[in-house]
Amino acid sequence: MDATPTILMCPPKYYGIEYEINPWMNRERGADPAKANAQWQALHDLLIQCGAKIELVEPVEGLPDMVFTANAAIIYKRIAVLSQFRFPQRQGEETHWREALAARGYRIEWPPEAMSFEGAGDALFCGETLYAGYRIRSDATGHQGIAEALGIGVNPLELVDDYFYHLDTCFCPLSSDEAVYYPQAFDEYGRKVLEQSIPHLIAVDGDEAQQFACNAVVIGRHVVTSEGCPKLHDQLAARGWTPHPTPLSEFIKAGGSAKCLTLRLDGEEAAGWK
Ligand code: ARG
Repeated sequence: MDATPTILMCPPKYYGIEYEINPWMNRERGADPAKANAQWQALHDLLIQCGAKIELVEPVEGLPDMVFTANAAIIYKRIAVLSQFRFPQRQGEETHWREALAARGYRIEWPPEAMSFEGAGDALFCGETLYAGYRIRSDATGHQGIAEALGIGVNPLELVDDYFYHLDTCFCPLSSDEAVYYPQAFDEYGRKVLEQSIPHLIAVDGDEAQQFACNAVVIGRHVVTSEGCPKLHDQLAARGWTPHPTPLSEFIKAGGSAKCLTLRLDGEEAAGWK
């Protein structure tokens, strides 16, 4: 098997702020296409420098959020559980993700019927356990069904702040016993679950959470985030990680950053099943 970390990305050819489905998006504050393109390319090149292999999916006109490949599906071994988007504006992506992942040889599965589920945006492995964010974009019952079908354990976490509407905006597993999180995005129960199940948790503050500090891509010992998270980067360096900042302002306007622009095709670094 190819041991190179493999990441799916989608070029921002048709990217833009065309609707508002989260509090970051404002049609009057559009993204600068040239700048978005340069930022996306710089992220792409940085991930390669960090040791990743990138696969590209063809962008589709009229689906501006397709750049956020994290929301395509959750990958488990050779299975892809596809997303069922909460908002109609993104539902047109579903058929393209199915085609892209089926073409790569994944066995395609769906979440339980009528359940919203937004892929690796809301479902992240830390060790053998799936941590799954619910309420804003994905449904808790859907997560339970997916975990049962895959035969894995799940820790559902309620998201309580609309600015941190996907789990990957406020939580990032680094390894099987280490993760970054923004405590205020969870209710008390969720915080307790995280604190009791993950031995080394790095908390980020509100300012850096707003810079999408938690929305990090982990490749080996490299951690890539948007710029503007120096406190997290110091904490990561102190624990032996190599942090890399990169400008992603044009994507933050849509409510996404480094991690949202990627989907690990071979399992997250922190996944115990790799
Ligand atoms: N505008 C997109 C949406 O609201 C951003 C998605 C960000 N993706 C993520 N994995 N957090 O759906």
